[in-house]
Amino acid sequence: MGVLTLQPIIPADAEQGLRLSCLAGWNQTVDDWRYLIRSGSGWGYYRTDGRLVASAIASQWSGHSGWISMVLTDPDYRRRGLATSLMSEAIAWLESRGASPCLDATPAGEAVYGHLGFSGDILLSRYVLQAGLTQEQVLDAGYILEPIQAAEIGALSTLCQDRSGWLREALLAYLQQQGPGLAWKAVGSDQTPRGIIFGRPGSLATHLGPLIAEDVTIARELLQVAMASLPGPFLIDAFAHQKNWTGWLEGYGFIRERGFRRLIKGPRPLPKMEVLSRHFASAGPEMG
Ligand SMILES: CC(C)(COP(=O)(O)OP(=O)(O)OC[C@H]1O[C@@H](n2cnc3c(N)ncnc32)[C@H](O)[C@@H]1OP(=O)(O)O)[C@@H](O)C(=O)NCCC(=O)NCCS
Repeated sequence: MGVLTLQPIIPADAEQGLRLSCLAGWNQTVDDWRYLIRSGSGWGYYRTDGRLVASAIASQWSGHSGWISMVLTDPDYRRRGLATSLMSEAIAWLESRGASPCLDATPAGEAVYGHLGFSGDILLSRYVLQAGLTQEQVLDAGYILEPIQAAEIGALSTLCQDRSGWLREALLAYLQQQGPGLAWKAVGSDQTPRGIIFGRPGSLATHLGPLIAEDVTIARELLQVAMASLPGPFLIDAFAHQKNWTGWLEGYGFIRERGFRRLIKGPRPLPKMEVLSRHFASAGPEMG
């Protein structure tokens, strides 16, 4: 197999990263790779001809919140300990900064992370819809839906008062720029946000999320108004504990494709389900 060297991943390697995520059938774009590499620190195993064959990226969102993503190994190089080694780099980088490593694991990833001390019980379901359907009308809702403008991202992320870093300003600004027609808010008569949705184009489908709302009715409306801007296909990573929500997605025509488990390493527990009561969809396992 030849000699492999461990090196930092740099933004110029985004196309190489895209090769790895496409091999795994993932949805990221080259812009997503550039955003993720710039948002933290990445490591890769490279062949002597410069080809990237395994990757991992760590980002610190806020003081205690760290996220690991893009853990990928080229199929020709699996079961040689590459993912484990790159995870060790990512974990050490986050822990040395006082952040607990967190991630959304595929079943294949869980086989690796279990050995590294990760655990967690928050489940997400990946749903796919080939094309948007007729929009349901909600009458007398008590709020209106408005597009989110780039200039209001800072104020919006503060208003949403998310201290975990999941609604961090840099992510919302990136998403609004990638999918301006997919970024919507529900606002009450006093102009307070009652829900938000963002999305972004992917290499296979439009990814919808994060989606945070006061209730499932607002979540449904935000999802449908976002989908009206593009023909599809769409995918969404729904929090599985929102049973009314996932039931509605399935009734609407979304097909469950696979699941993820949110895992954390270290003493700090993941938020309890009640704290996540307004979370309907994540921004995807790569973004958190
Ligand atoms: C998951 C993935 C990154 C693992 O990469 P890897 O470099 O082969 O992983 P490692 O060699 O470090 O595996 C370490 C251990 O994890 C376990 N493991 C890894 N892949 C496994 C598999 N397919 N089935 C069962 N156990 C597995 C084994 O215990 C393995 O140790 P062993 O080979 O000594 O038995 C790789 O399979 C991949 O790219 N999959 C597709 C993308 C993906 O799902 N990534 C995870 C995102 S959360």
